[in-house]
Amino acid sequence: MDEKFKQRVRERYQRALQHGERFWPDSIYKDLLVSLGLFILLVGLATFVGVKPEPKVDPSDTAYIPRPEWYFLFLFEFLKFIPGKLEWLGAIVVPSVAVAVLFLLPLIDRNPHRHYSKRVLAISVMGVIVVQMVMLTIMASVPAPAPEQTAIKTMQMLAGLAIPAITLILLFIFSTMAKDPAAQRKSLTATAGIAALAIVVLAGGSAIPLQRNAPPKEEVAVAGTIAEQVAQGEELYALNCVECHGADGDVTVIQGVEGLDGKVVTPISSKDVMYAFTDDTLFNIINDGLSELGMIPFGTANGGELSPGEIESIVAYMRYTWDDRMELPEEQRVGGIPSLAEGEVPSYDVHIEPLAKRYCVSCHRAGKENNNYLMTSYDEILNTGDDAPNVVAGDPNSILLQVIQGHTVQGVNGEIDVMPPNGKLLKDEYIDMFVRWVMAGMPQTAEDAAAAAPAP
Ligand code: HEC
Ligand code: HEC
Repeated sequence: MDEKFKQRVRERYQRALQHGERFWPDSIYKDLLVSLGLFILLVGLATFVGVKPEPKVDPSDTAYIPRPEWYFLFLFEFLKFIPGKLEWLGAIVVPSVAVAVLFLLPLIDRNPHRHYSKRVLAISVMGVIVVQMVMLTIMASVPAPAPEQTAIKTMQMLAGLAIPAITLILLFIFSTMAKDPAAQRKSLTATAGIAALAIVVLAGGSAIPLQRNAPPKEEVAVAGTIAEQVAQGEELYALNCVECHGADGDVTVIQGVEGLDGKVVTPISSKDVMYAFTDDTLFNIINDGLSELGMIPFGTANGGELSPGEIESIVAYMRYTWDDRMELPEEQRVGGIPSLAEGEVPSYDVHIEPLAKRYCVSCHRAGKENNNYLMTSYDEILNTGDDAPNVVAGDPNSILLQVIQGHTVQGVNGEIDVMPPNGKLLKDEYIDMFVRWVMAGMPQTAEDAAAAAPAP
């Protein structure tokens, strides 16, 4: 830096000092204005957009895939290109060096000029890095390529690691080689420009097919309150546990389950089980199963179908339904089977659906042995079954009514057992509900039921 140049800078500084605006209050005022804008934006986002809740933290969930926040995704993606053994290089050395360079930049870069046209090296280096970071973030937010998608994986590797690395090296070489500033500027901008374009094309080109094949995002059902958890647990219990343990957890001898027919079990709703087992023990039994005794594992970690959150819901349902030391506050109860008032006609929507869900659907759904009688919807209850129709409007001898009242019936495939078949009939209240429903002509909605009721 020669004296003349220094002199010029000083003069310009003096001039700026005369005309410029003052830090206080002019500059501060602008800062405050921008901060206020950002603050309002954040409050608005938090109020109107919010953050999608994830299921409650679960340290025993081995299937959970942790992901960093979006502003770290680029580093997360970058690490994928570094082989496992060298992970320390990508995770610690490269980021530390990058941050150190930023700290030391004022000492390394003694370029006296401020105008961007005189700071080509710094701008081209930073430009390539920023483009790389943006594209890494995009690559991280689409699904990862399958192992056999080698072309896509190569494109990602080039865009995320190889091209940026080679470009940075080239930029430094060119900056020391060319003596003529104009030629140097040209070679640097051309190199950085071509590299940035290649990174965008390759990364974008790999992201588009991956995004197109992405499976639709599953909504994570998060059971919030205890009541919601219990309601979710009730449904899951009905689907997964009823065939062996019964709708009320009181089965003592398993019946009609292949391989376990006649097996004696402790009724799981009894005090013996409820008082002896903590929530954690119940969770573990459901998660891991009791394979030597014939109960399969249900947890996804063990090849089952239930997530830890779902198992927790089942445990909550068992606890709040069977453990007489626990009671859900009345106003929190949801779902369940509403009882009938004197003379009230039940409807499918309000009464029969939850009733069937709790006591029948565990067996009467697709894929189970049930004479092809499915009970998961109104139409199915009315129309399916090898002996269909099982319900006939106004007929007290409908097959369904007979079997739930403890009579066996001769069907096309032989004798139909009493229902439910595991040894205990429904409560009288529920049998009565089915009877009144069929006698009134199986109304579907609450309005239909009200219309079917005799005038008071
Ligand atoms: C295929 C039949 C089957 C299914 C389905 C099944 N279990 Fe079991 N379960 C068993 C058997 C068999 C045992 C061992 C019973 C015993 O030895 O008393 C058992 C034991 C248990 C026990 C421990 C009882 C004790 O006294 O040790 C609990 C709790 C339990 N089951 C809960 C569940 C829950 C909750 C579900 C639904 C997610 C479920 N089970 C599904 C067959 C089943
Ligand atoms: C543990 C499993 C299980 C449960 C729970 C169960 N069923 Fe069944 N159901 C069966 C099987 C198996 C058949 C086939 C006939 C047989 O083996 O007795 C059947 C057959 C029937 C049939 C005759 C269908 C036809 O077309 O032949 C009716 C009606 C029926 N069940 C009603 C019910 C009702 C109502 C409930 C609930 C209160 C219920 N079942 C609960 C297993 C079950």
